[in-house]
Amino acid sequence: MDFPKVVITRRIPRQAIELLEQHATVFLWDKEEDAIPQEVLLEEVKDAHAIYTNVSDRIDREVIASAPLLKVISTMAVGFDNIDIKYATERGIAVGHTPGVLSETTADLTFALLMATARRVVEGHDYVKSGKWTSWSPMLMTGQDIYGATIGIIGMGRIGEAVARRATGFGMNILYYNRNPRPEVEEQLGAKYCLMDDLLQESDYVVLLAPGGIGTNKLMGDREFGLMKPHAIFINSSRGTNVDEAALYRALSEGQIWAAGLDVFDVEPTPTDHPLLSLPNVTALPHIGSASIATRTNMAMIAAQNIIAGLLGNELLHIVNPSVYEN
Ligand code: DGY
Repeated sequence: MDFPKVVITRRIPRQAIELLEQHATVFLWDKEEDAIPQEVLLEEVKDAHAIYTNVSDRIDREVIASAPLLKVISTMAVGFDNIDIKYATERGIAVGHTPGVLSETTADLTFALLMATARRVVEGHDYVKSGKWTSWSPMLMTGQDIYGATIGIIGMGRIGEAVARRATGFGMNILYYNRNPRPEVEEQLGAKYCLMDDLLQESDYVVLLAPGGIGTNKLMGDREFGLMKPHAIFINSSRGTNVDEAALYRALSEGQIWAAGLDVFDVEPTPTDHPLLSLPNVTALPHIGSASIATRTNMAMIAAQNIIAGLLGNELLHIVNPSVYEN
């Protein structure tokens, strides 16, 4: 019997490849740094039964339409805004993702970014290493306090909740905005639900954790940054598309807000001449929210298990479009 074909679009942990090889013939784009070129992807999916993808690929209508045998798309991520879910569902293709396993790790990074931005850790590090530190001075590299401040979390999902838990350790006052209120989070963590405008006006730290997609596109723009306090810090570890980057640049350069910590950008990798990268009050990271060795390995294994389940005709462990099972 011929094995089904799986296209893996990037180098992933060896264990996940070995697991897939027990069930499928694997095409691997074996590069650490470079995403698979779209023309290679289009060619390789022609006879593929499954695509193992990640946030840096575009699995759009054209890719899916080029794959007549496709049964499963599995992304090694919780977010799936890079996949045409509507068209995949119309075609009866199951789409899997990896929620849950990355929440604590992503919350760790979000909090690290918040602390680094508030206390100017990266700026201080560069200052020392470049030999600019010539004397101790009372107001050198002064930042913002975290302990006792108000954090406003936009998007109270699993990651938001994990960030809120960390905030309690810092004696922070926690506000949140979400599609639906989460009474259990309010009860357990003392978080207070509020409207987004109120959250923006009252928070010292605004942390964006909303999923990407059409409904959240440019959720933060001129109006929203304009509502924030002049000493407030904006943190984004969700999706770059959730932010109007030109508006963020204006807010940061005109002193409407104090600083931003960004793990995600509209275009990734971010071009080095991107205006936001020229600002001293921006701390930038290369989309590494879930990037601990253990978590990325777990995500890789879950994404592989999703593929195997789909190829065997079973329900995926974590399905994005359960309606494919309705017929
Ligand atoms: C996700 O899982 O969606 C992250 O952005 C990548 O880990």
